[in-house]
Amino acid sequence: MPLPPRGSTIQAADAPFTPLREPEGRVVSILGYGNQGRAHALNLRDSGAIVVIGGRPGSAARHQAEAEGFETFDLAEATRRGDLVVIALPDEVHGPIWRTTLSTAIRPGQVIGVVHGFSLHHGDIDPPTGVGAVLVAPKGPGRTVRERYLMDQGIPSIIAVHREIEIPGHGQSSATDASGLALAWATGLGCTRGGSIVGTVADETETDLFGEQAVLCGGMTALFLAAFETLVEAGYPPEIAYIECCHEAKQVADLVYNQGIAGMRAAISNTAEFGIDTAGPRLVDEGTRSEMRAMLAEIRDGRFANRLRADADHGFEGLHRHRKTQTDHPIEDAGAKVRDLMPWLSEEDRRSQASTRKTSDEGGSGASPE
Ligand SMILES: NC(=O)c1ccc[n+]([C@@H]2O[C@H](COP(=O)([O-])OP(=O)(O)OC[C@H]3O[C@@H](n4cnc5c(N)ncnc54)[C@H](OP(=O)(O)O)[C@@H]3O)[C@@H](O)[C@H]2O)c1
Repeated sequence: MPLPPRGSTIQAADAPFTPLREPEGRVVSILGYGNQGRAHALNLRDSGAIVVIGGRPGSAARHQAEAEGFETFDLAEATRRGDLVVIALPDEVHGPIWRTTLSTAIRPGQVIGVVHGFSLHHGDIDPPTGVGAVLVAPKGPGRTVRERYLMDQGIPSIIAVHREIEIPGHGQSSATDASGLALAWATGLGCTRGGSIVGTVADETETDLFGEQAVLCGGMTALFLAAFETLVEAGYPPEIAYIECCHEAKQVADLVYNQGIAGMRAAISNTAEFGIDTAGPRLVDEGTRSEMRAMLAEIRDGRFANRLRADADHGFEGLHRHRKTQTDHPIEDAGAKVRDLMPWLSEEDRRSQASTRKTSDEGGSGASPE
């Protein structure tokens, strides 16, 4: 069942779960039980797939998977057992683990799955002949993938086939192909309840990195900090600066999420809307656009990936330094005080907030950025 052309939208009716439904006897091995891995494992199991988990010895995440009812194995054994082997490990360890462990365990007829294209696109994972490779990348954090599934909703994903293979039927399972497993995976996750989009691994990798750098993480964080610092420098109380320049971003983002930018404009005051057109072009001028094009070029030609790998090879010394700088920034204290005004924030959110503060106090590296 080849995927429809690039840019097509796929819904559940076009993406049968049958190839992974339990009577077919196929096994989904999920390597890693972190943000994405746990959500994929729980959603696929609840949808009726046989799921096992792979993890390193002594792994806290593997222990959690066992406590949540999964059979777990070391990474090589989990790889051998999977018809679909989903690599839900941090991107920077895909290459080393592929070379030392996975490449010798994988066999023709199996299909490798990734939830972000970085390692496939940049050649850190190089599936041998006869091994399929697909991508199902949900466009949101693992926690949201799970929450939406439980609400009978789903978040969109990008689906791509990097290497197609035919998979003959055996025993109770009927013949399928790598595309069939990718479609079933997306449906089992809940991602085709609304719709998922067909792309290439390059589409997903390059747009994902660009979006998070230019807007979602890089651009937005820099705007929050610069605006906060401008107000505090001018003598305004930090808590007010935080509310105006950071906290309220959620309300505006929710409007855009539900109604688009035009809908957001209609929902805010004329005064606020007037400010969009006077301030926006001053902040995002030709210089900003030119930087965006340069960032995209560095993502496309691999310079960004090389910088990431170089920092990973040095224990993420640069990443940890910047993380520490952020936890020590005055915006964190102001934000903590504002969040303390909202006792309805979940315990889970409060815990991660507390761990950020603890990390700062101890000078440690803290939790994963996503
Ligand atoms: N975070 C998100 O929501 C998000 C969104 C979209 C796509 N993605 C993609 O999802 C993939 C996984 O990212 P993630 O954020 O879910 O990762 P994560 O939360 O950091 O989870 C990593 C998992 O891998 C294990 N692990 C870490 N280092 C390891 C190593 N050296 N050897 C063996 N196991 C190791 C961890 O367990 P132990 O440390 O306990 O061993 C944990 O189970 C990446 O490709 C990422 O780009 C993530």
